[in-house]
Amino acid sequence: MSSNADLVFQSYGRACSQPEFFERFYTIFMGKSDDIRAMFVNSKMETQRGLLRGGIMWLIMHARGMPDTKIRALGESHSKKNMDIHPMHYNDWLDALIETLEKFDPEYTLELGQTWRATLLPGIQMIQNMYHD
Ligand code: HEM
Repeated sequence: MSSNADLVFQSYGRACSQPEFFERFYTIFMGKSDDIRAMFVNSKMETQRGLLRGGIMWLIMHARGMPDTKIRALGESHSKKNMDIHPMHYNDWLDALIETLEKFDPEYTLELGQTWRATLLPGIQMIQNMYHD
């Protein structure tokens, strides 16, 4: 029996091995609002896509029981006093990720999408809660 975090890990492996995965993610994510698009105007997206690959992996590893050091680092960099990423944007982030997975994981189902959400949520909430710290 695979745990939910294992199912998510395997799904990520199927999806993120395709080079267009992260490109499509940012197209979908930035399409969610002008505010989000504006935050990346000066970003080198090729670098950013590589960083996100690792960031999602940290969230999955956290769900599999890894210590929260990397998640706390994301909470710190995305906090008000650093990059100032308001907590409300994480809903769009997660929706964009699920929409991208739907397109790239050939074994995607609605249930798997829900499993993804439930698995990443604790790590995302930890990042959101560090906004004001
Ligand atoms: C849990 C979800 C997220 C993950 C895993 C994530 C991951 C990352 C990572 C790994 C970096 C590289 C710098 C660092 O390590 O801190 C980064 C930078 C960044 N993230 Fe996020 N991020 C998330 C959510 C968001 C959201 C919701 C926004 C808001 C629009 C956002 C905007 C940015 C921006 C603007 C940068 C800097 C880009 C640059 O260097 O030009 N992130 N993110």
